[in-house]
Amino acid sequence: MAASPHSLGTPAERIEGRDKVTGAARYAAEHTPPGCAHAWPVPVGVACGRVTRVDTSAAMAQPGALAVLTPFNAPRFAAPPDDPELDVLQYDAVPHRGWYVALAVADTLENARAVAAAVRVACAGHGGGPEPHDVVLDEDHPEAYTPEKANGGYPAHRERGDAAAAFATAPVRVDVAYRVPPLHNHPMEPHAATAHFAGGRLTVYDSCQGANAVRAVLASLFDLPEDRVTVVAEHVGGGFGGKGTPRPHVVLAAMAAIHTGRPVKLALPRRHLPSVTGHRAPTLHRLRLGAEPDGTLVSVSHEVTTHTSRVTEFVEQAAVPARVMYGSPHSLTTHRVVPLDVPSPSWMRAPGETPGMYALESAVDELADALGMDPVDLRILNDPATEPDSGRPFSSRHLVECLREGARRFGWQDRDPRPAARREGPLLIGSGVAASTYPVLVSPCAASATAHPDGTYTVRVNATDIGTGARTVLAQVAAAALAAPLEAVRIEIGSTRLPRAPLAGGSSGTASWGWAVHRACAALATAVAGHGGPLPDDGLTATADTTDEVRRTPPYARHAFGAQFAEVQVDTVTGEVRLRRMLGVFAAGRILNARTARSQLIGGMVMGLGMALTEHSTMDAAHGDFTESDLASYHVPAHADVPAVEAHWIEEDDGLLNPMGSKGVGEIGTVGAAAAVGNAVHHATGVRFRELPLTPDRVL
Ligand code: MOS
Repeated sequence: MAASPHSLGTPAERIEGRDKVTGAARYAAEHTPPGCAHAWPVPVGVACGRVTRVDTSAAMAQPGALAVLTPFNAPRFAAPPDDPELDVLQYDAVPHRGWYVALAVADTLENARAVAAAVRVACAGHGGGPEPHDVVLDEDHPEAYTPEKANGGYPAHRERGDAAAAFATAPVRVDVAYRVPPLHNHPMEPHAATAHFAGGRLTVYDSCQGANAVRAVLASLFDLPEDRVTVVAEHVGGGFGGKGTPRPHVVLAAMAAIHTGRPVKLALPRRHLPSVTGHRAPTLHRLRLGAEPDGTLVSVSHEVTTHTSRVTEFVEQAAVPARVMYGSPHSLTTHRVVPLDVPSPSWMRAPGETPGMYALESAVDELADALGMDPVDLRILNDPATEPDSGRPFSSRHLVECLREGARRFGWQDRDPRPAARREGPLLIGSGVAASTYPVLVSPCAASATAHPDGTYTVRVNATDIGTGARTVLAQVAAAALAAPLEAVRIEIGSTRLPRAPLAGGSSGTASWGWAVHRACAALATAVAGHGGPLPDDGLTATADTTDEVRRTPPYARHAFGAQFAEVQVDTVTGEVRLRRMLGVFAAGRILNARTARSQLIGGMVMGLGMALTEHSTMDAAHGDFTESDLASYHVPAHADVPAVEAHWIEEDDGLLNPMGSKGVGEIGTVGAAAAVGNAVHHATGVRFRELPLTPDRVL
């Protein structure tokens, strides 16, 4: 069937593409209301203890100084924030290094920075001297405990059968430990907000993944009715989870604007991001896989130890994917967490699945080795009929199809399975495979759609486009439901003035927003058809709210799956690992825009490549903070690191998801990518490296 111009799935170009490349698109820090002042935050230089004094006299004597807010003079919040990471400048205790202890406000950016530099902060430990801090994670830490829940609301501890006993008697066993270091989100656009308080109304331009949540926080902290607070996030330069929750910068910008009566702009310096906007917590993994000689799994055990801060309990749910992936009569998946004097960890692209599947899929590769079995065949053999942990049927799965299609496209059948068998001069060449999974999440959303007399439509929903192409795909969803050409649809997103919507996170944006847009447009189409005659001047409008519908979804296990293949070369002289090619095949429901979906999947795979080879953060035990805090030291892949990456998908028709049949593509591309690269390095060298990243110092 020929694709009509409004078909879902067509590779429509980004509606805002021209605005972005010409600079017409404005980001949070590019709004400058008249009289706008600038703010610069002051991080604390110790990892624990107490602020005894903030001396602002030299700072306030700087040119252009307007205010220095400190824990001792800052306005108090009307109510404590639900997220204690936002309780800034409210108390003198130091929860971690980098916590903000002052905010300088001045007439220009340069002056604000100079004011901040002149602030003098004095700290003391509880006993008077500097408090010894504790920032080093290890499995035997005396404060380690098993929490009730891990991130995402999953039970932290699950056991089916007797995993230890089944492992002890399994004929083939793998018992291995893997380590993933702290990782940083580092979106291209650092966190920024411009706030303006006038006439009892607060208007904020924020770089965030969801403006409704930001509005709720600001209204509560500053005791304003929500209808007097507007949060605009029209264009956002990436978030990767680091902007998934409201962050301190927007609270501080609003506080400064209310306090000074001037509009205030606060753009965080990139070097502050690791300490105040969340990070992927380090994870220590122990995996025990037991199998019959034919490869049938009898016991799967995945135990994770991670850290959290003193401020909040965030537990990276890295053992959770082992509850989804492979059938086994006995299974143990559990998390332990150690509260340390470290910055608060939070969401980073596929939290849980990304480090968890790195460890699990590496261990599965080790099991294939121990069995003398092909790793694709081993995964296919253990593909479960129902979700192993819950027993629920899958709405759709198709991991086996992804593995087969990926193997075919990659040329897997030509691979010599022996490790270290392929050499080109000083280079060892190898290839590896790993599986991917990510849950299908969805949240309630509202939307409206208006038909105008000139035949055009306006669709409104407070979606956030963090660089994904959300505008474009929502316009496609609308056009399809209206049976209208794409050009006839005007889409308005990115403001709390629009119908309420959930965040761009958990790969749930398109499903959540699209569901409401589809319903509003379908209702409008019906209303227009029933109207007859010309439309009134102000058009016809229909609205939708999916709250009830989303809550009524039947209890299926809903996940996207994928298979990732990588080929690497390892230089035996320098220890450098380079990717030669990477190929992923995904089952993610209906793909709504081939161009933007491919871009999401490839971007995710590249992020997994960075995790495998270069991205690494060190917790500096002496100072108690991250060492690699900018892009000069925290190495994300550059173009020259990414030679050939292909993303494909299989046509998946799943009627148990949402009206579009989509699963979400924002995160699954990252999941499994690092394991595929690591397994390829093992195949190339015959050596198993169990700690990321695979930098030359480790590989040599
Ligand atoms: Mo994503 S880590 O759910 O924003």
